Amino acid sequence: MRGNYAEFLLVLGLLSIGTTLGSDLNVQKYSEVRCKPDERKALLKFNQGLGYPLDSWNSEEDCCKWEAIECSEQTGHVVKLDLSQRGCDILVSSSLLELQHLTYLDLSGNRFVAGNFLAFIGSLTNLQYLNLSGTNLNGTIPQNLRNLSSLFSLDLSLNLLAELRNLDWLPNLSWLRHLDLSGVNLSQAVNWPSQVDMLPSLLDLHLRGCGLSMPQISSAISPANFTSPLSIP
Ligand SMILES: *[C@@H]1O[C@H](CO)[C@@H](O)[C@H](O)[C@H]1NC(C)=O
Ligand SMILES: *[C@@H]1O[C@H](CO)[C@@H](O)[C@H](O)[C@H]1NC(C)=O
Ligand SMILES: *[C@@H]1O[C@H](CO)[C@@H](O)[C@H](O)[C@H]1NC(C)=O
Ligand SMILES: *[C@@H]1O[C@H](CO)[C@@H](O)[C@H](O)[C@H]1NC(C)=O
Ligand SMILES: *[C@@H]1O[C@H](CO)[C@@H](O)[C@H](O)[C@H]1NC(C)=O
Ligand SMILES: *[C@@H]1O[C@H](CO)[C@@H](O)[C@H](O)[C@H]1NC(C)=O
Repeated sequence: MRGNYAEFLLVLGLLSIGTTLGSDLNVQKYSEVRCKPDERKALLKFNQGLGYPLDSWNSEEDCCKWEAIECSEQTGHVVKLDLSQRGCDILVSSSLLELQHLTYLDLSGNRFVAGNFLAFIGSLTNLQYLNLSGTNLNGTIPQNLRNLSSLFSLDLSLNLLAELRNLDWLPNLSWLRHLDLSGVNLSQAVNWPSQVDMLPSLLDLHLRGCGLSMPQISSAISPANFTSPLSIP
């Protein structure tokens, strides 16, 4: 009887050690810093270059826990940055280049006030969602957009952009489902309907206020086969 009791205590003891170890491991796993030091540094530099830096980004070591950021569960790399509609002035944007694993970037409703962000966007080749609507971009749309061949959504609307060639980069974005170029001056891009027609997955196309003339539009609509909204002027 006494032997059994001792055995019982021993088992109980082992059980509780096991449980304690288990919960320690859980705690350790939970508090593990996933953020990559280089990506954290790049984000802090980007934040310093915002008109109104996000205070919360300085208070926590693990950048994967910062607001507006998401990291991959598998790799720990920053995959998402969503700063839409913050009304920030963006002074430094080149630091975002460090975030090579980004798949989702939304800076809509903030203003680039220095540099030419579009000039180097072509190196963020993993992007699937890019929203730069209303970000004060100017100049011509660079050809390097053709590098972003994983994009399924691209919004460059409400900027001061122009396309002086023929949207030659567009057919390379073969996964594209949503495209908004509203407000981009397309008056020189005479061949745009055939480029748009080469996008097999396109579901919606927005070309409001692009300076397109009616003959171009009617020639675009007849050959293309859209199953969803097409919004032109
Ligand atoms: C274009 O944008 C850049 C950076 O925001 C700015 O420095 C430049 O003055 C702008 N150019 C024009 C013509 O507005
Ligand atoms: C396009 O992507 C390749 C890697 O896939 C890179 O080497 C090249 O520099 C990129 N081009 C631009 C203009 O960013
Ligand atoms: C881009 O952002 C704007 C403003 O936040 C939003 O209204 C629009 O729907 C977004 N575009 C896409 C294609 O998601
Ligand atoms: C764009 O598409 C053309 C034609 O399919 C191809 O030759 C070229 O390599 C593509 N460029 C990029 C950067 O994917
Ligand atoms: C669009 O671009 C053309 C050619 O560069 C120019 O003549 C026209 O004034 C532009 N339209 C607007 C609304 O800026
Ligand atoms: C348009 O596409 C739909 C769905 O892919 C298809 O069923 C239809 O036959 C196409 N119509 C034309 C005129 O090609």
